[in-house]
Amino acid sequence: MESPFEVLEIDPDASEAEIERAYRRRIKETHPDLGGTVEEFRAVKAAYEQVKTGEVPDDPRSVSHREPAGGTQRWGGGQPDPSDDSERTVVEYLDFEVIVDRGWDLSDGDLFEKAATLDLDPADHGRFVVEEDETLLAAAERHRYEWPYSCRGGACANCAVTVLEGELSTPVNHVLPEEILDRDVRLSCVGEPLTDELRVVFNVKHLPDLDELRLPPHPAD
Ligand code: FES
Repeated sequence: MESPFEVLEIDPDASEAEIERAYRRRIKETHPDLGGTVEEFRAVKAAYEQVKTGEVPDDPRSVSHREPAGGTQRWGGGQPDPSDDSERTVVEYLDFEVIVDRGWDLSDGDLFEKAATLDLDPADHGRFVVEEDETLLAAAERHRYEWPYSCRGGACANCAVTVLEGELSTPVNHVLPEEILDRDVRLSCVGEPLTDELRVVFNVKHLPDLDELRLPPHPAD
């Protein structure tokens, strides 16, 4: 079994900057959308966590079971504590309208911490579990949340979310240009979590660059 340093392709005495550079490079190299595999991607994530924290997971995927940092403990849809299932991802979500209504900004680093101090409706802020091979939108709907969508096929921006922590795959994308992807906007109708934890702002379809990429809404939109 490779050591975390071998996975990241760094020396054991690598500096912080070298670790960060290697992590970003290896994440790109192993990203499933860029020719890697989910297993390789998760192994890089686990190695990075191990190097940064000094903790040794039993299995590379075990880093995916840690409790998300901060926030509330509301589990969407009355689901069981996800920490006992190795293939699940915990998603903490926040409605973009909450951000707009309160004059916050997507770039604020403490959006979820601020949201946790408010008594928001579970439809606006909370957590739910995404099962293995389940898209983010499908999971939201399974928990009875009405997130926006239209085509469900990667051809509009109606279902767009901004990923603030973690990774969501982009297996199909006929609409989002590179500069928007670089801002961590993803399509929830086709995207599946690639990391143990996700923090997403949903309902970002009204962001200036996305508005023109929308299709006529689905009746639920
Ligand atoms: Fe159109 Fe997701 S609903 S891309």
